[in-house]
Amino acid sequence: MVKRGRSRSISTRKKQHLDLCATADVGFRGVTTLLEDVHLVHDALPELALDEVDLGTSLCGKTLRAPIVIASMTGGTSAAARINLDLAAIAEARGIAFGLGSQRAMHEDPAAAWTYEVRKVAPTALLLGNIGAIQASRMRTAEVQELVERIGADALCVHLNPAMEIVQPGGDRDFRGALGAIARLHAELGVPVVVKETGCGISASVGRRLLEAGIRTVDVSGAGGTSWVGVETLRARAGDRAMGAELWDWGIPTAASVALLAPLGFQVIATGGVRTGLDVARALALGAAACGVARAVLQAHSKGGGREVDRLIDGILGSLKAAMALTGSRKVADLHMIPRVIGGRLRDWLDQLA
Ligand SMILES: Cc1cc2nc3c(=O)[nH]c(=O)nc-3n(C[C@H](O)[C@H](O)[C@H](O)COP(=O)(O)O)c2cc1C
Repeated sequence: MVKRGRSRSISTRKKQHLDLCATADVGFRGVTTLLEDVHLVHDALPELALDEVDLGTSLCGKTLRAPIVIASMTGGTSAAARINLDLAAIAEARGIAFGLGSQRAMHEDPAAAWTYEVRKVAPTALLLGNIGAIQASRMRTAEVQELVERIGADALCVHLNPAMEIVQPGGDRDFRGALGAIARLHAELGVPVVVKETGCGISASVGRRLLEAGIRTVDVSGAGGTSWVGVETLRARAGDRAMGAELWDWGIPTAASVALLAPLGFQVIATGGVRTGLDVARALALGAAACGVARAVLQAHSKGGGREVDRLIDGILGSLKAAMALTGSRKVADLHMIPRVIGGRLRDWLDQLA
């Protein structure tokens, strides 16, 4: 009974999250991704044809036709199920990866599992399950494994979101046990664990602790895109909004997080404010293996369904290809090696932390 009540409140929250992310101004206000501080060096003699540029890559052991992840967003309601099916079908058709939203709702109420079941439309796409690290710390590995198997996920994103929880009305306030749960899941789960932030980035020192726990793939989900502190601030009662307004821009910019973590040897997914093909090219030049896009995809979907999402992805892939050709990069691996000039605030972050 208690679980049912809790799962209803999760559904209400998820619905509010979708509505706010689709329609409200929940982006970072003064902080950017700092991807604009990565300058790619023009190659006036690329000696290749645009058609030769190959966007193929691999992530979590699966081949992708382009280095793009539709990042974890939703599940648990019938509206979420429709979004998941539409986006997963697009991921399948385009050979990109698809992340489901937190599976907490289906853990609390197994009747909600159908809202995450997308394998019927995406039999081969790289499919990422999702659960919060704090929830996972309170679950047995077998229960997490059940969530993974039920949806046929290839890997599990374990998300970190302490800033959002602190601002969320009724959110978690105790973050102990997350690293232990991550190490346990890495050791015991039948699929790879991807540790993922949700908009505040991952530092090099957290990266080193994750390496010790055995983790090899991270999604930095850095600052500069969707502010989850912002989303929760808008959900809070008027009297409780001051702290959220103050912390709205909290986090490590996406570009800084990628540049700090890639040299440690991680396979890095760059999510957080990635909107264009040039953003993707810049993140890959910093060492990212792939880029994730969340809110821009949701907004496109709410504006014009799958067709608008296709248009968004066409735009991203078109300018990524152009940036690759203009830097003489035939393959994604070439983009990891090209010269780039780092300026502005990103240089400050790296000078002081790398
Ligand atoms: C509507 C919505 C719901 C989200 N739900 C989850 C979630 O359940 N689990 C998770 O790991 N991240 C979740 N995220 C965070 C995104 O995966 C991503 O890390 C973050 O929004 C930054 O990317 P963006 O700037 O492209 O939106 C959600 C994002 C959106 C927009």
